[in-house]
Amino acid sequence: MLLPIRKMADAARRARYLEALGINVWVPRHPPVETVVAPVDPATLDWPALRACVSDCMRCASHQGRTQTVFGVGDTAARWMVVGEAPGADEDRQGEPFVGAAGQLLNAMLAAIELPRETVYITNILKCRPPDNRDPRPEEVSACLPYLHRQVALLRPQIILAFGRVAAQSLLGTDSTLGKLRRSVHHFGALNTPVVVTYHPAYLLRSPGEKRKAWEDLKFARRVFAELPPAV
Ligand code: URA
Repeated sequence: MLLPIRKMADAARRARYLEALGINVWVPRHPPVETVVAPVDPATLDWPALRACVSDCMRCASHQGRTQTVFGVGDTAARWMVVGEAPGADEDRQGEPFVGAAGQLLNAMLAAIELPRETVYITNILKCRPPDNRDPRPEEVSACLPYLHRQVALLRPQIILAFGRVAAQSLLGTDSTLGKLRRSVHHFGALNTPVVVTYHPAYLLRSPGEKRKAWEDLKFARRVFAELPPAV
């Protein structure tokens, strides 16, 4: 608590009088305990509040190295949600997911199944760039996952397309290989949202021979979507 200058002077004078009278003045050894602010539960937030909460996030150490958080982008009425791993250097700089070379390929992959980038909602498992682009750590994934759960609850997508092993394993809570997870319909979260997985575009840039398999996955996802019961 801040005291006005006059009150501080009064308190000092009083302490001097008491000292002169030989009376011990007891002062607290520690400053008063700060009011503890309960962490915000993302499950209660609307889009703007969730975005603000993410941008202030310090739940794991990766906040220390970020330029900014990368929340997500796209149509908040989209039926398709795209989930990647984590921002890279370009995304960290621009604050938007999939804007670098992998993003260019992602856009082309989506366009191949008639989904222009603007018609989907794109986000990542992690909202901060991991230092040196290393794989996300389990504690970072668990710290960040509540944000993705809330994004899914707000968006209510009909289908989630997971790009890459880390996105697939984190969403599905498994350590199965991507090869085993492909070409099946999985489910995520409280709404049991269907999930289809495919290769990460950054991996496809390094291994272009796998693009054919990714194309099979995208056609599979399209078929799964077409066969979903009408949204309520
Ligand atoms: N890789 C990802 O997984 N996400 C991005 O946003 C960029 C690259």
